[in-house]
Amino acid sequence: MKVWTVQKILKWTEEYLDKRGVSSPRWEAEQLLAYLIDANRLDLYLDPHRPLLPQELSTFKVLLKRRTQGEPIQYITGRQGFWKHEFRVEPGVLIPRPDSEVLVRATLERLKGIERPRILDVGTGTGCLIISILADLPQAQGVATDINPQALRVAQENAIRIKVQDRLSFLLGDLLAPFKGEVFHAIISNPPYVAEEEWTSLPREVREQEPSQALKGGREGLVYLSKLIDQGWRHLLPGGFLAMEMGWQQRDKVRSLFKGKPYPGIEFFSDLGGRDRMVLAKRD
Ligand SMILES: C[S@@+](CC[C@H](N)C(=O)[O-])C[C@H]1O[C@@H](n2cnc3c(N)ncnc32)[C@H](O)[C@@H]1O
Repeated sequence: MKVWTVQKILKWTEEYLDKRGVSSPRWEAEQLLAYLIDANRLDLYLDPHRPLLPQELSTFKVLLKRRTQGEPIQYITGRQGFWKHEFRVEPGVLIPRPDSEVLVRATLERLKGIERPRILDVGTGTGCLIISILADLPQAQGVATDINPQALRVAQENAIRIKVQDRLSFLLGDLLAPFKGEVFHAIISNPPYVAEEEWTSLPREVREQEPSQALKGGREGLVYLSKLIDQGWRHLLPGGFLAMEMGWQQRDKVRSLFKGKPYPGIEFFSDLGGRDRMVLAKRD
């Protein structure tokens, strides 16, 4: 009888996923297997000859079937690495993307000299942005808001796991509506910004599996970006800033949304591929 060891099944799964068009087959094979045996990726290589038990093999078949039927790997394993931590994620809540780390880096850089910064994260999802920032800035305080109660529950779980729960509060609501009269050193957001017109060009897996409320940004994808620009400055301390992720082709349109608004300094930041990923606007 053939014994399936970790090493053998990794290789087999990588090939299987590759043939089915999965774009990072080795990485996904590692994720699935590590999840199955409750280990981390490194353990797979430290104990490559560990045999899989019959029960593990049959569970693995089910996981693999879910994956090849289009379910994102992160919804199967319930986790996704982002910045320096692992975040819990579940269907109904957007999976954190590495592109959003640009926003974390820029925000951390800008908040450096401020003693006890107060930060608001609008549309927090898993909480990946604000939790990463608070974990790196032990004096900072945060508020996370979302219109989706499920996202807030997941973000709260992540805050507890990453041990920032004492410095982060959560509020259900529509954009900045719950914050009348409140001011912050920074407002950060990765709002829905996919243009209505471009929805069908998104990968099918994203359209069918991830929450459309987290992605669809209305006409030209600018509806939420525009509202945050209009409302944001009222909730910023003098010299505070609004940092938002945006689509890589939205630079000119986003720039024009700032016209006539009290934000004297506007900067765009790009990802490693040189594509514009976010805008940071300082309030006067
Ligand atoms: C692109 S996702 C970003 C999630 C997370 N911040 C991240 O970077 O992975 C946008 C988030 O905004 C939330 N959202 C959509 N409309 C909203 C609104 N009107 N007010 C507050 N949050 C909203 C969605 O539920 C979703 O969690």
